[in-house]
Amino acid sequence: MSKNIIFYFSGTGNSLKVAKDIAAAIEDCELISMGKSHKLSGTYERIGFVYPVYGGGLPGAVERFVKALDLLENKNSFIFSVCTSGSGSAGGLTNISKIIDSKDGKLSYGETVRCFSNYVGLYAMGNNADIKAKAQAQATKQVIKDIQSLAVKPPSKNNPMILLHGPFIKWLAKRDKAFNVSEACNSCATCSKVCPVENIKMQDGKPIFLHHCEQCVACVQWCPKQAINIKNKTQNRGRYHHPDITLADMINKKL
Ligand SMILES: Cc1cc2nc3c(=O)[nH]c(=O)nc-3n(C[C@H](O)[C@H](O)[C@H](O)COP(=O)(O)O)c2cc1C
Ligand code: SF4
Ligand code: SF4
Repeated sequence: MSKNIIFYFSGTGNSLKVAKDIAAAIEDCELISMGKSHKLSGTYERIGFVYPVYGGGLPGAVERFVKALDLLENKNSFIFSVCTSGSGSAGGLTNISKIIDSKDGKLSYGETVRCFSNYVGLYAMGNNADIKAKAQAQATKQVIKDIQSLAVKPPSKNNPMILLHGPFIKWLAKRDKAFNVSEACNSCATCSKVCPVENIKMQDGKPIFLHHCEQCVACVQWCPKQAINIKNKTQNRGRYHHPDITLADMINKKL
């Protein structure tokens, strides 16, 4: 068993990159995807949660994962949370702090790392991925120092954005009904492999979406043929993933 464990959720690799950088620095650390539930066995020195901000709060998969996690043996561990965002932090940390409180644990440290904004369903992808990746790496350095030294910096408990968050997350789950697959699809199944929540089944060589989508946009962003689109909105919006994260990193969710 490792001394430390980090749970992550990531569609385009920003959060996975932060999680990997922290894991490398604190050493002796397991990295586990939050796409599926996990049973903690034993006591860890540090337990981390790293994920993107969705609609000013937690992705639905992260909320479900943390609610289901049994922290009984780890109430005294140093629990930290780092959310990655395109522009703000809002309620991502507040949400998770409340869930951990309800399990008699304590979120000792919460921080936001600003990254490239990846929601291609709403806007075109910027052409500044390398600049954003550098800024992300710079911000992660301070987070690493804090986590190495077990710094106590809990997030604020109040955030008004949380009021809007629930309906937004519900709406996202069925938003895959707006996905379409063009003739460019070569049946490679990459989309199905990168989906963190097994929402894509391959049928007759084409992806079928199962309507429990997180809208993480991994399938849209990693398709090598840019064959997956959201209505007619994303055809010319470009595609993005973190420059240091490979498809193999995404697919080997347990690294
Ligand atoms: C469905 C969705 C909702 C998002 N909502 C927000 C948001 O409310 N605020 C924000 O700053 N960024 C938002 N983003 C941007 C992501 O949080 C940001 O790009 C994040 O770093 C992506 O992480 P990943 O590469 O690990 O998936 C959203 C992205 C998606 C896909
Ligand atoms: S990743 Fe793209 S090309 Fe590959 S099966 Fe999915 S839609 Fe088709
Ligand atoms: S179907 Fe696509 S957008 Fe939805 S959860 Fe899976 S990879 Fe993410």
